[in-house]
Amino acid sequence: MELLQKKILTEGKVLSDHVLKVDSFLNHQVDPKLMKEIGKEFAERFSQTPVTKILTLESSGIAPAVMAGLYMNVPVIFARKRKSLTLTDNLLSTKVYSFTKNEYNEVSVSGSFLQKSDQVLILDDFLANGQAALGLIDLTKQAGATVAGIGIVIEKSFQDGGDRLREMGFKVESLARIKSLKNKQVEFLIDNRK
Ligand code: G4P
Ligand code: NA
Ligand code: NA
Repeated sequence: MELLQKKILTEGKVLSDHVLKVDSFLNHQVDPKLMKEIGKEFAERFSQTPVTKILTLESSGIAPAVMAGLYMNVPVIFARKRKSLTLTDNLLSTKVYSFTKNEYNEVSVSGSFLQKSDQVLILDDFLANGQAALGLIDLTKQAGATVAGIGIVIEKSFQDGGDRLREMGFKVESLARIKSLKNKQVEFLIDNRK
């Protein structure tokens, strides 16, 4: 996605060989026009895939997921990282390992919003080692629903999450795939800029 690649190059900050900071449009401040285009792009990429719900993880997955839900005309559910006062009934939970923090975090969703008949599109902002996506896949399976596909805003292809999920047979669509962050430079797997 050309617009996203341009945004990453102009506003992204390479913090290390492994970490890209995109706080100005995705992880802290949010660019609504870009999110709208991202939602449209996800809808196009999954136009041939039956989808009844979108499942993401708070907090940074929510903005792109809501825009995709708007274009695909399906509800959006975000799994929660903290225990909620009101989220108590029919709770589905899974543990997500964070490599960056070296800890497990419990993420939960109410089974009331996921039915066996649901075709679930999993969306997230970043794909690194794939732990978050695997957690969302687990929640979908616990609900007896089907994973329709996985959509990612920024995939770091030099980490193994994308390969793992594709080897498992999932349709993974990443709007920007980063090959390398070495020497403070963002290098895309395929450069879509004209
Ligand atoms: P993973 O195995 O699920 O791919 O995740 P990892 O533990 O490596 O990452 C933990 C958090 O850091 C996640 O956000 C993930 O989206 C984010 N992350 C991973 N790599 C990068 C990166 O290069 N740049 C940025 N900006 N974020 C990255 P989170 O803690 O769930 O945060 P949020 O959704 O509340 O923003
Ligand atoms: Na994040
Ligand atoms: Na995330």
